[in-house]
Order: sequence, then structure tokens, then C-alpha cells
Amino acid sequence: MKLYFAPLEGITTYIFRNAFNRIYGHVDKYFAPFIFPSENSPISSREQKDINPDNNTGINLVPQILTCRSNCFTKAANEIHAMGYNEINLNLGCPSGTVCAKGAGAGFLKDPSALQRFLDDIYTFAAAENLKISVKTRIGFDDPGEFPALLEIFNAFPVSELIVHPRIRSVFYKGEPRKEYFLYALEHSNNPLVYNGNIFTCSDYSDLLSSAGSSIDTIMSGRGLISDPSLADKLKGYTTDTDPTKFIRLHDTIYQGYREILSPDINVLYKMRELWTYWQTLFDGKEREIKQLMKAKKYEDYEENAYRIINFMNRQKDHPAYEKSVSRCLNDIKEKVSEMI
Ligand SMILES: Cc1cc2nc3c(=O)[nH]c(=O)nc-3n(C[C@H](O)[C@H](O)[C@H](O)COP(=O)(O)O)c2cc1C
Repeated sequence: MKLYFAPLEGITTYIFRNAFNRIYGHVDKYFAPFIFPSENSPISSREQKDINPDNNTGINLVPQILTCRSNCFTKAANEIHAMGYNEINLNLGCPSGTVCAKGAGAGFLKDPSALQRFLDDIYTFAAAENLKISVKTRIGFDDPGEFPALLEIFNAFPVSELIVHPRIRSVFYKGEPRKEYFLYALEHSNNPLVYNGNIFTCSDYSDLLSSAGSSIDTIMSGRGLISDPSLADKLKGYTTDTDPTKFIRLHDTIYQGYREILSPDINVLYKMRELWTYWQTLFDGKEREIKQLMKAKKYEDYEENAYRIINFMNRQKDHPAYEKSVSRCLNDIKEKVSEMI
């Protein structure tokens, strides 16, 4: 099987990707969070930095574009191509109100004729430039019944891979994905397919395979791979456990990476807090410490709580940060005792 890492805006940044790829790996392709081009500025400096090949060494990365204007797409795609990328992904899934109101992301699915004209333009451009364009789509805007007509449109183009997240826009990321629509795509798509949605565990993956026979060979996971970073190792049969040592390395590498590029402290902590909203599922019983960690405004407070939580998983007493947090606890106790006497 092939496993792709789904893009999550603000989370799967180049800092996260590098750390994940170095420590865990076993992911066949990473998709970068969307670039939202405007007429005057196809790619912002923050977006350029995120996909800059020098910041993604050894990573099989596919940049993604979110737009409903073919001229904006081609301008951004030219810049991305010039950076050395040969595949670009089109986002037809973003459910955000602002994005959909502009007719982009999942909002584009509401207007199939405009979508068809847009695809005509960008695939003509892609053929001339020798570029591959893959598509990441939902199954409709208001109603999954929109999907067969959308699939017919995609079938008219050489979509290098059609990644289907079988939900409609209004449910955002909630509820069960409508797998039966993915099965419909398996029967009717002319283009290679990738399944995306709610693969959090190996049994989610085996359930998907049993509902579809063995005909799914590529899946994309986002929240599952973030919540349990060992998921790729597990899905590919390298391990059955969540490895605490690797998790600590992942945490420390991301934390250091953000400390090097962000300031003040609180901006780094916002990034870490967002990750902990996913990681907390690994730490049953540590809700109180996680709550404290989420409130931390300084590195010291963050570290104290983070390593208390992490060491609960590992009990790895020789980790330097653990020692630091233990000695801080002891000092706190000593201070309290001396205040009392
Ligand atoms: C916070 C957040 C940010 C996301 N950003 C993007 C994005 O930039 N581009 C995109 O195609 N999908 C984005 N998605 C959707 C994910 O790529 C993925 O399709 C979705 O989470 C369902 O897959 P999962 O259940 O494996 O997470 C985002 C989802 C979340 C929750």
C-alpha cells in the first residue's frame, strides 16, 4: 500500500514535515497545505518558504493550490514548477466559509460548468508545461448525490490522482465518511484514486479494505498520522506499538524547530498547543496536565507540563528534560516547605 500525508493548514508545516520524515518516515508523499494565489502575488513569502526545496530535503512533496481562477492557478503553478516540482494538487475540498464564498475549495463544486472550464484551462496549460495535476475533492457541496456528475467531469481530464474525501462541505470533518461514494468512484473513475478520511488506526484501514475488496492501494491520512505518529509504521507492518522514544524526538525536534523561527514564546506555544489537541489522545489520564500545558505562556511552564505528560508515556528517566522537570518540582516543593516552617 501507498500512504500519503494529508495537508493540514498551520500544522503540517515544513518544520513538522522534516521532523516527521526524519524520525518516522514510511510516508510515500506529503501534500503541502494550500497556497491561495492572488492576481498580484501568486505565492506569498511564507508559502514559498514552506515549499522551498531546500526546506524539504529528502521529502516527496506535492504543493497544493486553492483557487477558482485559472490565471491565478497557472501563475502560481509556473512558480512552483520553476522550483523543481512536477506535480501540483488542486484543492476542491476546503470547507471554510470565506473560501467557499469566493467560489473556491469545496465552494467550486457548486458550479460544475465553471469547474469544467477551469479544468479545461489548467489541463491545457499542464500538457504544454509537462506538469501533472492531481485533485483533492469532496463528494459534493450540499448533497453527495452531486458526486456522479462531478466524477464524470473529472473523468474527462488526465487527473494524475483523484483524492476523494467522501464528505460534503457542510459536515466539515465531522461524522463518518460516506465510503459508499468512494466505492462508486472505484467503479466509475477513469483516473487513479486515493481514499482520504478517518483512518486513525489499523482497524480503520482494514475496515476500509473489507468494504472495498482489495482494490484500494493508496490512502491519505492527516489527523490519524498526527494523533498517532506511529500510524505509518503500524499500517506498513513495521511495528504494533507507539514508540515513546520516537515520540519524544518528534516533540523535541518540532519544538526546537519552531523556537528557531518564531518569536515571541507565545507564538511557538500556539503551534505546540495545536499539536497537543491531536496528541492528547495518546495520554489518557493526563487531562489535568494537558489543561495546564494549554494555558502555558512561557517555555518553562510549557516544558514542565509537556515532559511530565511525555514521561508518563515513557517513564524515560534519563531524558535531560525529564531531569530538569523533576528538579524543578523538587525545588518547588523545597520552597513551599521552607515557606511553611
Ligand atoms: C485544521 C485542518 C487544516 C486543513 N488544511 C487543509 C489544506 O490546507 N488542504 C487540504 O487539502 N486539506 C486540508 N485539510 C483537510 C485534510 O487534508 C483531510 O482531508 C481531512 O482532515 C480528512 O482526512 P483525515 O481524517 O485523515 O484527517 C485540513 C483539515 C484540518 C482539520
